[in-house]
Amino acid sequence: APVKVSKICCIGAGYVGGPTCAVIALKCPHIQVTIVDLNQARIDAWNSPDFNVPIYEPGLVDVIRGCRGRNLFFSTDVDKAIQEADLIFVSVNTPTKKSGVGAGFAADLHYVESATRRIAAVATSSKIVVEKSTVPCRTAESMRTILEANSKPGCRFDLLSNPEFLAEGTAINDLFAPDRVLIGSLQTQEGKDACASLTEVYANWVPRERILTVGLWSSELTKLAANAMLAQRISSVNALSAICEATGANIEEVANAVGFDSRIGPKFLRASVGFGGSCFQKDILNLVYLSESLHLPEVAAYWRQVVEMNEYQKARFSKTVVDTLFNTITGKHIAVLGFAFKADTGDTRESAAITLIRDFLSERAYVTIYDPKVEEAQIWQDLQEACPTTPLDSIKKYVTIVHSALEACKQKEAIVIATEWKEFKEINWQTVYDQMTKPAFVFDGRMILDVVQLKKIGFTVKVIGRGDRL
Ligand code: UDX
Ligand code: UDX
Ligand code: ADP
Repeated sequence: APVKVSKICCIGAGYVGGPTCAVIALKCPHIQVTIVDLNQARIDAWNSPDFNVPIYEPGLVDVIRGCRGRNLFFSTDVDKAIQEADLIFVSVNTPTKKSGVGAGFAADLHYVESATRRIAAVATSSKIVVEKSTVPCRTAESMRTILEANSKPGCRFDLLSNPEFLAEGTAINDLFAPDRVLIGSLQTQEGKDACASLTEVYANWVPRERILTVGLWSSELTKLAANAMLAQRISSVNALSAICEATGANIEEVANAVGFDSRIGPKFLRASVGFGGSCFQKDILNLVYLSESLHLPEVAAYWRQVVEMNEYQKARFSKTVVDTLFNTITGKHIAVLGFAFKADTGDTRESAAITLIRDFLSERAYVTIYDPKVEEAQIWQDLQEACPTTPLDSIKKYVTIVHSALEACKQKEAIVIATEWKEFKEINWQTVYDQMTKPAFVFDGRMILDVVQLKKIGFTVKVIGRGDRL
């Protein structure tokens, strides 16, 4: 029979584990939730008295305020939390492998594996173990094997897959009112019971018809499929944006009209300088790797093209900047507004801004960066990783980080919008123009600016997906 969950442990206090389990604690005051991590600094930040939590997410602090110390706890005592829990979420990081078999494609599962081994080693009672990190198909099977091979007498482990679909920047809303919650389990009685236990947790606030229960492998594949199809929409619209620029059509008009077809729908059709984030590229490459290992090369090639189109979009945008600035940006001064991979997050993983700036630096342009939420140290780390052969001191000769958009744009010849932060729409563009080197160029990689107004002021404006021959 299903266990009634009263204590939850979440291993991994990152972008997924932190917000997800904080919301569970808020919505289920009768359940004690302990989020653990090996990283002491991260746990300290989650516990900080002034709620200076380690990730920026609108509404998150209010959730933490509502339940921290009541039934939500953050700790580095991983073993104790494992021992006490009935149900354990594994939400550790699963980056793309950097070396070895499948390097550049396959997920690095050693964090998942070591967390799983830890559970098996220290558990003294039966547990429901829930795979929450995005992982390749069949990871649950490996986790199950590890748990079963290492369990003590009287301890049973039931494995569930419960992928998280939240998007950064809207995580709290996504968690409060998810489109769906997906739970995968073995179709045995024990599997179904474990599934029912987790269903009861979510049913505290999610309507039951939105809680979908499927087989383990369907659940794992769905996460990859959903991200691949979302990314595919962006690559499709970005491919069309190239046609628009070459012909004088306008991608906003095209995407809007296409999206009116109820079979297509209006969301996720915004052309951009390229998608970023920790999930899309990683999950597609996982799918590519999976397809190849299943001897399905055509399927692999299909999905790979979604990532290639994204690389092309970023390269195309860099080239437009160089071409427009009279075919050279060497020694020129460019302001890049936005460094996060999208608005309302401080996260920079796979951000298109990184690629653009790397391209500008390879032309020896001077770049001034402003982002409202990204930490300075993060920017230096990302640029160092993007330009591994250039010493950081040399990068710093060409790059400046400033604290306002106005400051970034002063005395520059060009402005590049890389992230769609709302505040960039509200800039006083007349003041910006007055302080720029002329002719003054704006490259809008996010379609957020009022082109007519900017042109009236005197700017030369290039927008993704908009031809000059309007
Ligand atoms: C994504 C999925 O949306 C989420 O369901 C999954 O759980 C994790 O991956 P996230 O990466 O946080 O979430 O952000 P998302 O809003 O999907 O944006 C991803 C990238 O696509 C961003 O760089 C964004 O700017 C870009 N994007 C999005 C576009 O370029 N155009 C669009 O129309 C939508
Ligand atoms: C299509 C467009 O739907 C229509 O808007 C356009 O004006 C003309 O082209 P049509 O070719 O008549 O219309 O049929 P449609 O229902 O779109 O189906 C096209 C093909 O896709 C069919 O072979 C159908 O079986 C197949 N299909 C459709 C699928 O395989 N799966 C689906 O989910 C939908
Ligand atoms: P995600 O975006 O998937 O949430 P993050 O990198 O933001 O990924 O968070 C994952 C967290 O998991 C990190 O804070 C990391 O320290 C933690 N972690 C990784 N392995 C373990 C482990 N074995 N035990 C506890 N925490 C772990």
